[in-house]
Parts: sequence; C-alpha cells; structure tokens
Amino acid sequence: MASVTQDSSRLYDKLAEVIEEKKDLRNPLIEILRIAQEIFGYLPVEVQEFVAEKMGIPASKIYGVVTFYNFFSMKPRGKYTLNVCTGTACFVKGAPRLIQMIAEELGVQMGETTEDGRFTMSAVRCVGACSLAPVFVIGEDTFGRIDNKDKVKEILARYE
Ligand code: FES
Repeated sequence: MASVTQDSSRLYDKLAEVIEEKKDLRNPLIEILRIAQEIFGYLPVEVQEFVAEKMGIPASKIYGVVTFYNFFSMKPRGKYTLNVCTGTACFVKGAPRLIQMIAEELGVQMGETTEDGRFTMSAVRCVGACSLAPVFVIGEDTFGRIDNKDKVKEILARYE
C-alpha cells in the first residue's frame, strides 16, 4: 500500500492523469475517488483538495462524498481489510460476538486499523454465504461458522 509521504509527487502526477482522462465522463467523481484511493491507499484531505482543484468543484462536495460512502476511507487502511458480515443471517447467528472476538484478538474496534498496519476491520452487508453464518471475508477468502476465539486466532495468523 502506498502512503502519501512516500514518493507523493509521482502519485499526484498519476492522479492528475486519471482526472484528465475521466473528468468528462458522466458523474466521474466516485470513479475518480475510487482510483485515487487505490493510488494513495486512502483519501486524506490533501488528496481531496487536489481532486477538488483539478475538477473545479468545492472541496466540501468531495468531503461529502467521501464521508457518505463507507468504502472510502480518510485514514490509512491495513494491508488486509477484514470485512465482517453484518447481514441479517450473520447477525442472528452471532456477528456481534464475532466482532467482539476479532476486536479482542486485534485490539481494534470496527473501522480501525491495527497498530502494525496488518488489518482494518470493517462491516459489510450480506456477502452471499449465509449458510456459513457468521462470516468474515479477507480479500478473496471467506471464513464461516466462526464460533470461537481459537478459530479467529488461527485464521488471522495466516495473514502476514
Ligand atoms: S448475511 Fe452474512 S453472508 Fe448473508
């Protein structure tokens, strides 16, 4: 994951190219912010201001969009995003307890990133694996029927 301080002028150049290429599309803002987040790893205020200036729109509008959608983050994210499903089936089958077990294991609350930068815990809606509830997802991997802390610990240890 890139950081804003690391080689940032190259990252801003790349973002400027993306803006140039996409700005005439219909409603390009979300797509541009999505790519900006891919480039920088997250969307700090400086990046939002850069996009605002290049697109000639108020920074407050960008801020409104970034804070509205939960897939945008203003804080650096971990190497892995650990998405806990909070859809109905998972909720009924123990998602709150699962969240608590993960929180205890990682020492973070929902939306936070671990100190070592390994994981960001976030919540998602149904991921289509309800029969395995409660479920969490890391990257392409889905883990289900997680009912004890040892299982949580064992799975998290696989991600270096
Ligand atoms: S509700 Fe969690 S996978 Fe469907």
